[in-house]
Amino acid sequence: MTTHIVIGSDHGGYELKEFLKQQLYAHDSLSIDDMGTFSKDSVDYPDIADIVVKKVKETNGIGILCCGTGIGISIRANRHKGIRAAVVYDEFTAEMAKKHNNANILCLGGRTTQNDKALSCVQTWLSHEFEGDRHLRRVDKLDN
Ligand code: RB5
Repeated sequence: MTTHIVIGSDHGGYELKEFLKQQLYAHDSLSIDDMGTFSKDSVDYPDIADIVVKKVKETNGIGILCCGTGIGISIRANRHKGIRAAVVYDEFTAEMAKKHNNANILCLGGRTTQNDKALSCVQTWLSHEFEGDRHLRRVDKLDN
């Protein structure tokens, strides 16, 4: 089964996004959809968040968003119903983001998180399952 990942960043997360994209391309089980930005030129992170969220919803997929800290782009993504965008910075937060929050978008900071750590966060997030049960009850309340 192929997992479809929509990826995007502003200029602050551009280099991290490019790194992650190259690394994830190498996995046969992943298909990567890069929604930009495509250079280091300054862009507004809410615009990228909106583009990625639209594609995630259309494809019923998951996403990765990068900005300088992961914060601004997560705030915007979370304004969309059905989106659970989690800023993570280590393997534990990445694991919890999936197991407890069923995050469908992972947010990372290009200015706060080293490339290898960010990749490890993505791999951790992808390799765990949502635990459901009481966490499902809580997650269901997020959109209500
Ligand atoms: C852009 O300079 C920066 O503010 C942005 O990438 C992000 O860190 C916002 O949260």
